[in-house]
Amino acid sequence: MKCIKVVIFGCGNRGNMYGEFSKEKPHKMKVVQVVDSNKTALEYAKNYYGLSSEDCFNSFSDWLKAPKKADAVINCFMDQYHIETTMPLFKMGYDVLLEKPICNNPKELVELMNESKKYNKTLMVCHVLRYTPFYSKIKKIIDSKELGELVSLEMAEHVYIPHMMSSYIRGKWRSENECGSPMIMAKCCHDTDLMCWLNNGEKPEYISSFGERSVFVPKNKPSDAADKCLTCPHMKDCQYSCYWYLLNTAQDPIVFNNAVEGKRYDEVTVEDKKKVFLESDSLGKCAFDGPQDLVDHQATIVTFKNGVTASLNMIGGTSYPCRTIHITLTSGEIFGVFEENKLTIRKYDKEHFSRETKNIYLGNVGIGHGGGDMRLIEDFIDYLRTGKMSISQTNIDTSIDGHLVGMAADLSDKDRKTVYLSDDRHLEER
Ligand SMILES: NC(=O)c1ccc[n+]([C@@H]2O[C@H](COP(=O)([O-])OP(=O)(O)OC[C@H]3O[C@@H](n4cnc5c(N)ncnc54)[C@H](O)[C@@H]3O)[C@@H](O)[C@H]2O)c1
Repeated sequence: MKCIKVVIFGCGNRGNMYGEFSKEKPHKMKVVQVVDSNKTALEYAKNYYGLSSEDCFNSFSDWLKAPKKADAVINCFMDQYHIETTMPLFKMGYDVLLEKPICNNPKELVELMNESKKYNKTLMVCHVLRYTPFYSKIKKIIDSKELGELVSLEMAEHVYIPHMMSSYIRGKWRSENECGSPMIMAKCCHDTDLMCWLNNGEKPEYISSFGERSVFVPKNKPSDAADKCLTCPHMKDCQYSCYWYLLNTAQDPIVFNNAVEGKRYDEVTVEDKKKVFLESDSLGKCAFDGPQDLVDHQATIVTFKNGVTASLNMIGGTSYPCRTIHITLTSGEIFGVFEENKLTIRKYDKEHFSRETKNIYLGNVGIGHGGGDMRLIEDFIDYLRTGKMSISQTNIDTSIDGHLVGMAADLSDKDRKTVYLSDDRHLEER
């Protein structure tokens, strides 16, 4: 069976995560070209994938001029480049795996979907959570109807302090103006996708959402605080301070990827970190000062055509990182905390006015979004090799509504109106 040749756009955290699959299953996928504007990232990718210089490009436009060598593109550029660097690919004969968010504009989203269909090419989206044992088990239970019909989905996503700081307060996604994505799309388009997927692709209809930025705002900055954490009198007593990043490395791939010239995130020293925090416009700044412009908590409600309702609470800056889900069906319930990888299933017991309870532990599932990253890339590659669709598959047809719900929630929040999603996929304010 064919080995799929791929180009990786963006050899950062995500690109290299998927690229890793070529090492695990070299008979299924081979990386033949890479594109990255960062010299260090490009050099690393060149060596890691064993490529010659002519197959390494520092811009999309240079890559476009080169001869076609691959079957598929894995597009892991930053959010704001997804549309312009994916739209031309289908006509050129590529199948595409695209990082989320696809984009932040409903018109462009539909155009991209139509373009992939026009050329009969696969467009899959990196909704990795669908591939985790946790969410795929939930999906199987719902689809089996053993607990009756779906009634309601209550979901929450808590973004814990280190992740909030390194991505949405000081990091690459800190500003919608700069990166193009509002918080609901940057962080929660997985959750809005899960909502639609678990509800069997039923059409979402009305969406209302309220977001606020009330924690990370200048009025909460202590009057004697400095602009930079490392020169601040609160350096060691503030839970948001960059100081803690000098002692911990868990967030380094997000914070220090491309932050120090010539070094990868795992090569930076504490002295490098200090220098970055003192010199960078964003990375070392007081969490209350900006430049972030995203909401720090947001509540969203959705109704679907089949009468199912769903809610999603995003809270940024918590002590525990977790996604919780509580699903009510006509004959039972499913409750789970993703990070604990456990599900509780309750089935109503009419005889005793009680309930049967079953706990399912889904085992040790591996790294990278609860094991979802590797399963997603394998599914994409397997689909191109065999044409067989899995239960989790994130093709554009089944991924578009979750994105539209996120876009509608953002519009609703900004305009303080309910948004109706029309059959022809327009967002109408009501
Ligand atoms: N599926 C998920 O759960 C998930 C998780 C995190 C990030 N993401 C998304 O994945 C994408 C990549 O994120 P990441 O964490 O890998 O970022 P990253 O910064 O680690 O890597 C991105 C790489 O792409 C390069 N790059 C970006 N835009 C480019 C362009 N236009 N031309 C050339 N090079 C470019 C950068 O130099 C960098 O090396 C983003 O869209 C992000 O929102 C998805």
